[in-house]
Amino acid sequence: MDLFEHQAKELFAEYGVPVPSGKVAHTVDEARAIAAEFAAAGQPRVVVKAQVKTGGRGKAGGVRLADGPDDAAAKADQILGMDIKGHTVHKVLVEEASDIAQEYYLSFLLDRAGRQFMSICSVQGGMEIEEVAHSNPDAVARVAIDPLTGVDLAAATAIMRAGRLPEQAIAGAAELATRLWAVFTDEDATLVEVNPMILTADGRVVALDGKVTLDDNAAFRQEHDRFADPGSADPLEARAKAKHLNYVKLDGSVGIIGNGAGLVMSTLDVVAYAGEEFGGVRPANFLDIGGGASAEVMANGLDIVLSDPSVRSVLVNVFGGITSCDAVANGIVAAIGMLTERGEQVRRPIVVRLDGNNAEQGRQILSEAQIPVVEQVGTMDDAARRAAELASLAATGA
Ligand SMILES: Nc1ncnc2c1ncn2[C@@H]1O[C@H](COP(=O)(O)OP(=O)(O)OP(=O)(O)O)[C@@H](O)[C@H]1O
Ligand SMILES: [Mg+2]
Repeated sequence: MDLFEHQAKELFAEYGVPVPSGKVAHTVDEARAIAAEFAAAGQPRVVVKAQVKTGGRGKAGGVRLADGPDDAAAKADQILGMDIKGHTVHKVLVEEASDIAQEYYLSFLLDRAGRQFMSICSVQGGMEIEEVAHSNPDAVARVAIDPLTGVDLAAATAIMRAGRLPEQAIAGAAELATRLWAVFTDEDATLVEVNPMILTADGRVVALDGKVTLDDNAAFRQEHDRFADPGSADPLEARAKAKHLNYVKLDGSVGIIGNGAGLVMSTLDVVAYAGEEFGGVRPANFLDIGGGASAEVMANGLDIVLSDPSVRSVLVNVFGGITSCDAVANGIVAAIGMLTERGEQVRRPIVVRLDGNNAEQGRQILSEAQIPVVEQVGTMDDAARRAAELASLAATGA
């Protein structure tokens, strides 16, 4: 789960990472009121920042300096409702403007290839780190972190020196880094990024921006529900999650159901490849119903996939292992029965490919069930081709 900047900063503050003080506004009036509080406290200069989970907000005009409550309201009016890379701005962070002397870059992340953690640090922050790494690679330090020892003050200091931060920023930045490391490990994050980490005119080091990605696999031992953003989740993905299904919405038209993540991923590839022949037909989702594949799980899976209006055909690709194909075939028959009972007409074509343990019996069960929308195909390639063809026929209304 990615956090909004204001959530990242709330988390930073809990760990003692210095951040500017600020509040979230959903309306122009709220933004004015927050700016008025700052003005009353002798801080009329504020920054109004779009809260969207994408980068490049500043470049898009989503980060604006304002002088006083009326100006803050005007800036909020411009930013709220703005579209930044496909994300609509529903809220802004109104925070005290900092007096910036220098901008640096600091992050901790999971280095999967290296099987360790890594810190990236640079004296050239504020802009996109990828650009700096390209134009001035020497200015970007990549420091491996031993997961067993972590980042103490000495290690943090070494990271700051590697990033070539100036002497007057080193102590403050190293202190900030140790606290940021605590956020990273204690919260089970896979990324914490501060760009820019600034040196203020009066010599303090502050996190002016924050990007955090939390590891969803660790959610069970964290209290991250408070950061959930139900409004932004794909409604189908939310429903699938509630039914404990591994479902990811994609943008094509062939619904995919398979057992085992590896098989489902290769099914996506095969469908995309076969779909080229039909003008670029692509998979509509990833759905792994797991090894068990009971009738109920199959029914829930079919239900989710068929609820997607862009689905024009469905491919069920099952390789029977511990769960044999006859059980899966019974599951499919029962699932379609359940859906019909629930009053959901199953009209879109379902191509089924069964292979592996008891495939023959499974195919026979499906044939005997004589379900008009179900069509069996023997191999994965042919099944993918047929599903893509049916999706393209449905699209052209043939
Ligand atoms: N509180 C603040 N006070 C003064 N200047 C700020 C403040 N917040 C942001 N800025 C300025 O705006 C720039 C962009 O802000 P920020 O890094 O938060 O957004 P961004 O990098 O454009 O967005 P993203 O991280 O989504 O790419 C900063 O580099 C900094 O110069
Ligand atoms: Mg930034």
